Amino acid sequence: MERQADHSVDPLFLRRWSPRAMAGTPLAAGELLQLFEAARWAPSSGNGQPWRFVYALRGDPAFVSFLDLLVTGNRVWCERAGALVVILSRTVRDNGKPVRTHSFDTGAAWMSLALQGAVQGLVVHAMEGFDYARAAALVAAPAGLAVEAMVAIGHPGAVTDLPEHLRAREVPSGREPVASFAFAGRFPG
Ligand SMILES: Cc1cc2nc3c(=O)[nH]c(=O)nc-3n(C[C@H](O)[C@H](O)[C@H](O)COP(=O)(O)O)c2cc1C
Repeated sequence: MERQADHSVDPLFLRRWSPRAMAGTPLAAGELLQLFEAARWAPSSGNGQPWRFVYALRGDPAFVSFLDLLVTGNRVWCERAGALVVILSRTVRDNGKPVRTHSFDTGAAWMSLALQGAVQGLVVHAMEGFDYARAAALVAAPAGLAVEAMVAIGHPGAVTDLPEHLRAREVPSGREPVASFAFAGRFPG
């Protein structure tokens, strides 16, 4: 079903979604840099830019190790990704003070990356289904960094590239109406 907005927005917001079917082709380093460039310009509290990305391109020895972090349900379709990325955030400033908005800011950067991926016609799919502790160890995350999510990125594939049980789910999802999450002044009693 095609996504429909109730209130006019740029079509890019409807076009971005999280497919799983990928072509299994390597992603060019330059394609990935464009996505990180988009993330770079995200807003953050005090312009602290707490986001960090550690990536493995398909064909790098690290790609297999990144793949191995994923739960089976994600690994089966991520095997055809062009790159896998671990997203982390800095939870502590240089002066030792906590960064209260580290996840919020990094979420903004992730969304910029995802939207740029949609512009480039790429599959960009976030995941929490992986081993967070092993991911931190694998990427040698320095102290004070929190693992936030992983992302699969790739050139789009055909639905038949997916295991059979995932094919019917390969459609953009809908959303609750704005009135269910945006309230004037206070939550309704
Ligand atoms: C932080 C985060 C974690 C997610 N984890 C997974 C995951 O482990 N596996 C998966 O298949 N999809 C995962 N997703 C994708 C969501 O299910 C998807 O974004 C949501 O259903 C909305 O669909 P859309 O992105 O196509 O609009 C995740 C998305 C986000 C933002």
